[in-house]
Amino acid sequence: MRVRIVGTGSYLPEKILTNRDLEQMVDTTDEWIVSRTGIRQRRICSDKEAASDLGIRAAQRALEDANAKVEDIDLVIVATITPDMFFPATACIIQSKMGIKNAAVFDLNAACTGFIYSLFTAQQFLQSETYKTALVVATETLSKITDWKDRNTCVLLGDGAGAAVLRKEKGNSGILSCYLDGNGQYGNLLNMPAGGSRLPATVTTVRKRLHYLKMRGNETFRIAIPEMANSVKLGLERCGLNRNDLDLLIPHQANIRIIRALAKRLSIPMEKIFVNIDRCGNTSAATVAIALDEANRQGRIKKGDIIELVAFGAGFTWGSCVIRW
Ligand code: ACO
Repeated sequence: MRVRIVGTGSYLPEKILTNRDLEQMVDTTDEWIVSRTGIRQRRICSDKEAASDLGIRAAQRALEDANAKVEDIDLVIVATITPDMFFPATACIIQSKMGIKNAAVFDLNAACTGFIYSLFTAQQFLQSETYKTALVVATETLSKITDWKDRNTCVLLGDGAGAAVLRKEKGNSGILSCYLDGNGQYGNLLNMPAGGSRLPATVTTVRKRLHYLKMRGNETFRIAIPEMANSVKLGLERCGLNRNDLDLLIPHQANIRIIRALAKRLSIPMEKIFVNIDRCGNTSAATVAIALDEANRQGRIKKGDIIELVAFGAGFTWGSCVIRW
């Protein structure tokens, strides 16, 4: 018996924001953004959309793909750093709007590693038979915490959601290993300073633009590469595999240069690495979930394939998940 992902789904908001659009907003160029990040466009949600709205669309598609019913779900975990509000949890909002009854519901904040942390958490609950069917949703509306005057960050971020339905089933397919890690000493390199109990919202915090995502990109970049490479290796080692066994690597989509550096360090050809950063930008927790769904629907993953998810994000947090599809 193994915990399997039995369905995936994703949703991208309609509005496309191109690099050319950003040229009109901050001092940047399409050439700089493409060469330094690999991003060409990103999706931006409407004023009326919140994280739960995107998450529900992705969740509905995952349920359809899994041939599962709303009544089957008894565990809902939502990975997000842009919840609809502080509380109730976005998982509760999604539960209510989807009509899910009698389920354990909570949000999980591990920033860009949130989907992988959530998969591992769900796997533990399903493995121990505490719950039967889990819905894991990773949903972000980063545009709402983006400083559209800060060229260092606004060119990187986008909105979107991905989801997966998990069950424990007979057979060899399923999650083979997960590896999670983190180091809170780096918290100040990537954060949103105000709006919490440390700096509650005041006129001053708003005036100082402290309710936006702040990142020291270059320092983050340099730590992300070795930790992601190590996560890929450790994840594979934990289930007795190595990089040659991998059919597809699905990395967090923060920067194409990070992904290329990862490929080089691990000697994995780029053809075996899923990339959609050019169309989606960095959607934090949602990137790996969206990429997994796209890879699944595009037929890039076949039954029996060994795939690995890997991510790195604010905290810092990082980790990986190896799956036999
Ligand atoms: N357009 C033009 N120039 C720019 C822009 C822009 N949009 N942004 C920055 N620059 C300039 C800088 O001002 C700097 O100029 P200076 O040398 O005159 O000071 C120069 O470009 C180089 O800046 P760096 O920050 O050193 O550029 P770098 O090559 O590091 O790229 C980037 C920046 C893309 C942010 C990169 O560092 C990165 O991808 N970092 C990691 C992101 C990541 O992995 N985040 C973790 C997950 S995200 C999450 O958890 C939400």
